[in-house]
Amino acid sequence: MNARFSPNGPLRGTLAVPSDKSLSHRAALMAAMTDEPVPITGYLDAADTNSTLDAVAALGALVERRPDSLVVRGPGLRAAAPAAAIDVGNAGTLMRLLPGWLAGQEGGSWTVDGDDSIRRRPVDRVAVPLEEMGAQIAARDGRYPPFTITGRPLRGIEYVLPVASGQVKSCVLLAGLLAAGETTVVEPIPSRDHTERMFAAAGVRITRDGDRITVAAQDELELGPLHVPGDPSSAAFPAAAAVLVPGSRIVLEGMAANWTRTGFFRILQRMGAIVVGPLEERPVGVPDSEPVTELDIAHGPLVGTVVEPEEVPLAIDELTLVALLGCFAEGATVVRGAQEMRLKETDRIAAVVDGLRGLGATIEATDDGFAVEGTGGLRGGVIDAQGDHRLAMLGAVAGLASRDGVEVIGMEAAAVSYPGFEADMAALR
Ligand code: S3P
Repeated sequence: MNARFSPNGPLRGTLAVPSDKSLSHRAALMAAMTDEPVPITGYLDAADTNSTLDAVAALGALVERRPDSLVVRGPGLRAAAPAAAIDVGNAGTLMRLLPGWLAGQEGGSWTVDGDDSIRRRPVDRVAVPLEEMGAQIAARDGRYPPFTITGRPLRGIEYVLPVASGQVKSCVLLAGLLAAGETTVVEPIPSRDHTERMFAAAGVRITRDGDRITVAAQDELELGPLHVPGDPSSAAFPAAAAVLVPGSRIVLEGMAANWTRTGFFRILQRMGAIVVGPLEERPVGVPDSEPVTELDIAHGPLVGTVVEPEEVPLAIDELTLVALLGCFAEGATVVRGAQEMRLKETDRIAAVVDGLRGLGATIEATDDGFAVEGTGGLRGGVIDAQGDHRLAMLGAVAGLASRDGVEVIGMEAAAVSYPGFEADMAALR
């Protein structure tokens, strides 16, 4: 499905930010790992997170959809049911977190597969630490889905993350719940910490000492009702549109303010954008909850900036938007240390550079990011989402801010994380 987005006056109004994808995946998984019913409000109803509900159902959880909540009754920490192949669809987070739960369940064997994009995304980054813990994983070409996990007794390890990744960290910590002794993950650069917070809420013994996170083996998890706040990665798209379209002023309500997810909003502020509202400061230890905020965002001039490697994991899914903002800023905008972008739903460095160039941008790819020369605007044209939800939404925002408008090829991809995106943008106009 193609969609056209043209400049059409300022964006105005209040938007309830759609639910967080990362937190929804974790809420469903951890609810399934307990054996009492867990009510979840605010669960994201999108393609990726529905794949997670299907997966936990295949593993023995009962998923009850009520009018304004979801109840997951899990099989419990050590009782995942045998299943035929589990289809993760397009969900990379599900693909990388599930093995953490399954690897330590003796007597079971599970095959995980997904769509064409998933089949290009590496799983060796989780297979390597899990195998060190004693797990058995057989992947296509040793690296890619489909792959089969055979449950084995696990032992705790100390694992230094070679890449800053919330997914890999979460996978090892999940496996640590079933591993003998303690499991420590060392993260040289902080990444999103939702798993750690949800563990703390579930009564898991988890500590953080500098860059070392340690979890102890558990007999069971106990979770009270969960609420999923708004997704900063989804909110980033209307936020960028409001900053770029003259005369705009919007309010974003109910957005998660977790400091490991709000790097993009700090970058926006540094570029001179008007973004007003509280964001969480880095906490000490492991909090057991997710803070929520309301942001007031308005159009204004931007200056270029340099995004350094330690900021990258805190804004990893929003960096394509930094490229777009850079087109409108005064001077150069550079992103460094973001080679992980190449391993997302598409190679997002190549996709954003080619895509924005086609709309008139002056942008160059580097091995680990990109450099944009601000020209004060963007002509417009056609962009192909290539099946990547975040590229589809990037094209839409580019269209609203461009001179001639943008045609997005494959706009339906947005439904992977933000099914109401077009309606929400229309409501702000
Ligand atoms: C996610 C972590 C990030 C992010 C992805 C969601 C998560 O991936 O890009 O969209 O929920 O843990 P990496 O861990 O590969 O950086």
